Amino acid sequence: MLIGFKEILDMAEKGNFAIPAFNVYNMETVMGVIEAAEELNAPIIMQNYSRLFTNEEGYYVAPIILAAAEKAKVPVCYHLDHGAGETEVVRALRYGTTGIMIDKSLLSFDENIAETKKIVDMCSAIGVAVEGELGHVGMASAGDEQTTEYTTVEDAKRFVDETGVAALAVMVGTAHGRYKQAPKLAIDRIAEIHDAIDAAVVLHGGSGVPDEEIQAAIKAGIRKINFGTDLCYSFLDTVFDTSRDKIAIDMFMKDAIKGVKNFAMSKIKLLGAENKA
Ligand code: 13P
Repeated sequence: MLIGFKEILDMAEKGNFAIPAFNVYNMETVMGVIEAAEELNAPIIMQNYSRLFTNEEGYYVAPIILAAAEKAKVPVCYHLDHGAGETEVVRALRYGTTGIMIDKSLLSFDENIAETKKIVDMCSAIGVAVEGELGHVGMASAGDEQTTEYTTVEDAKRFVDETGVAALAVMVGTAHGRYKQAPKLAIDRIAEIHDAIDAAVVLHGGSGVPDEEIQAAIKAGIRKINFGTDLCYSFLDTVFDTSRDKIAIDMFMKDAIKGVKNFAMSKIKLLGAENKA
């Protein structure tokens, strides 16, 4: 069933686990993720990058995600990831997302608060909860995970109090993309932020984070973990290995769906979301 962002985050907080948030792109990645969630009886988030709403893909993929969510027995939230601005947010809402992220983490602290609050106010008019980002989570290709400019507890508290976000993505030692070296997370900082704020703490850049770090982060209070890059590889690696003799695209894609499903199942188990639906 399709549920709201706040509802699914509350399930994680109550159950002391993290919701896996999978970045999906097309029907096959949606099918792989939803099959995994159903088989493991897990609540999940499916999310789209903001550019899918800047460009045309969101228009086509949104109905697929909604159809999968509505048919599923397990709770599914459809979320906009790293919303770039009002245009993408409004489009995402019109296409049916039940959660919104606005990412103004590259702005100054005060501007980030002002821009995020604008989106929170707009979304609250239709009961959609919002994720913000404080302390920019950069790119693994640039080694950004190695900076120790972690999100501070004081800033996180003020940001949540002043914006009213339901979830906060924080910089605690991760970055997006493939790491050159396994990252080491600031587990104590996660625990301090979790204790201080009235919002779910979110970890971006989940691909390639060692299992023990993920488990420690959840124990410290992370309630949503994003997986983008490794989901792409689970799809693409299988596509590149699939025989070119398979011409009919639905038949060709069967292995790729299975690749995504296996990947999603492994993360659902790792995050403790199995049987939490
Ligand atoms: P990865 O691509 O590193 O898994 O990060 C995904 C993400 O955080 C999406 O917002």
